[in-house]
Amino acid sequence: MTQILPPPTATETAEYVQDRVDEGYFRVNRAALVDEQVYEAELRSIFDHSWLYVGHESELPKTGDYLSRTVANRPLIFWRATDGTVRVYLNTCRHRGAMLCRVPTGNARGLSCFYHAWTYASTGELTGLPDAGGYGPDFDRSRFSLRSPARVESYRGFVFCCFDGDAPDLATYLGRAADYLDLVADQSPEMEIVTGTHEYAMDANWKLFVENSLDGYHLLPLHRTYFDYLKEAEGSYMDPRQETRAEDLGTGHAVITVEGPWARPVARWRPAMGEENREYIEQQRRALDEKFGAERGRRIAETDRNLLIFPNLIINDIMGVVVRTITPVSAGRTVVSQWTLATKGEPESVRSRRLDSFVTFQGPGGLASPDDNEACESCQLGFAAREEVRWSDISRGIHKERTGEPFVASDEIQQRAFWRQWQRLVAS
Ligand code: FES
Ligand SMILES: [Fe+2]
Repeated sequence: MTQILPPPTATETAEYVQDRVDEGYFRVNRAALVDEQVYEAELRSIFDHSWLYVGHESELPKTGDYLSRTVANRPLIFWRATDGTVRVYLNTCRHRGAMLCRVPTGNARGLSCFYHAWTYASTGELTGLPDAGGYGPDFDRSRFSLRSPARVESYRGFVFCCFDGDAPDLATYLGRAADYLDLVADQSPEMEIVTGTHEYAMDANWKLFVENSLDGYHLLPLHRTYFDYLKEAEGSYMDPRQETRAEDLGTGHAVITVEGPWARPVARWRPAMGEENREYIEQQRRALDEKFGAERGRRIAETDRNLLIFPNLIINDIMGVVVRTITPVSAGRTVVSQWTLATKGEPESVRSRRLDSFVTFQGPGGLASPDDNEACESCQLGFAAREEVRWSDISRGIHKERTGEPFVASDEIQQRAFWRQWQRLVAS
């Protein structure tokens, strides 16, 4: 049985991160990546109060469409109700708790609990109560509607929930990160999640994979197989001299921006996209310039971005758009769910190229994701020596915090932004 320890005190937690800009170092105590009491403290202080990604509105195209999701360890139903609105419910029967929805996806005007058949409409009301007379005249059905998280809001089609009713609204929470979500959402008049979820798990702490998803300099050493393939198959290679940027977007959000060597289905044609797609992609590119002006059009089309919406949503907008959540289930175990976001209505040949690039690089069995899993799990194994080797270094580029020089993707300001917010919340 797992022993639940009391949460660490502020003084103990303060030692998890040593943030010493003046002395030129930033480091994290490896206990913060191993101890179960830290994981318990994170659930209470981060996941119970942050806005967390549930899904994208395009995943529910028809009324009645629903998906089951797990967010912050809560089972949820993500459902387009018969009135057309997108709802998020806690997936637990108001009677005795059974999960109302027990399949990953479906379409229904209402759902009936398999245990005693209480039935709920997609708008949440308890509509079916077998042998209702048995409850007597005082039973008030309206008190037994499905419950929702305290807050549910959507930004540009991305639906989030928050279990803290006193949290700021979603747009305020996103702050400067909203601009980067706009760059993703503006790629075409309508974007859609391609049906299907990649789900995989790793024996590593969730924060390692957040760091990895924003890490701008592991690509060449860790993903050599992929870059060798890219060079051979597509003639493109990563130029280490290319210009990159890294930004702390405030309150834990961060982004790195790169102009990668690969083709982007929106809207950077490269020979690997095939001549048959060239006209369509170049026309998309012109449409972006016309709609947003040359500068923003260029930003949308030519730059790749890896965005973190604190604490656990990653959007990797590179050779395709990956929307990824990183969910801890214990200190040493993490579940990753990811989807790909695409231009609605794009030609089949572009879509198939997009999906190909997505699975080749970032699919769970692709040429990169298994490397990242392996690296995170290897770190976790290395932490067994944490009594002797206590600290992980996250100092790269810290001198620029004093000089004001711009950060590049191979700095670690993005990881420090995450850890600083982690420290503020877990230690408060
Ligand atoms: S637990 Fe759902 S009807 Fe009893
Ligand atoms: Fe990677």
